[in-house]
Amino acid sequence: MTRGIDHAIPVCAVHELQDGEAVRIPREQAGTADDIAVFNDNGEYFALNDTCTHARASLSEGWVEDGQVECPLHSGAFCLRTGEALGLPAVTDTVAHRVDVQGGTVWLLPDESQLTDGTG
Ligand code: FES
Repeated sequence: MTRGIDHAIPVCAVHELQDGEAVRIPREQAGTADDIAVFNDNGEYFALNDTCTHARASLSEGWVEDGQVECPLHSGAFCLRTGEALGLPAVTDTVAHRVDVQGGTVWLLPDESQLTDGTG
């Protein structure tokens, strides 16, 4: 089932999330099992589960570059587009979420598999 824009969560205004930056959306706000990190990489927006699959660091505090985020704790890397683990010691993929930009606002559309509100 496809979720409509009515299930989207406003993240911030476009100008508030600069290239190379990330913002963390708390799980209570996202309605998901994990917090979600939303990234701006060279003007493209991406979202992943925030907790690193290696040892629970916050990926929103990592380094964003060339389509990847590098974990701030042990430098594991994940693909921003797919959540694939790309660099040791991270070996377990994380979850990618949809991001949309409409009306000058960045919107998060959490993946249904991660919802805790009974609609997933
Ligand atoms: Fe992220 Fe170790 S906590 S690589």
